[in-house]
Amino acid sequence: MSTTKKVSMPVAVEAGKTYSWCTCGLTQTAPLCDGSHQKTADLQPLSFVAEQTTTVFLCACVRTEDPPYCDGLNCDS
Ligand code: FES
Repeated sequence: MSTTKKVSMPVAVEAGKTYSWCTCGLTQTAPLCDGSHQKTADLQPLSFVAEQTTTVFLCACVRTEDPPYCDGLNCDS
């Protein structure tokens, strides 16, 4: 069992651009989708459009209640 703690990850985004957040955990470019979900039968990325050019903190544990953003509540559980 891995003891690596998964926490939020900062991602620089541009206003109006669409991003795909990985929901399957297989991506090699976390927290964004790299297409590896195609190995699974039922998981798809969550697409979102950045509202402004900034740095957002995306969930890396996939337990957030505010996907794709880290809610800060489930990182250590
Ligand atoms: S690689 Fe995980 S959803 Fe695409």
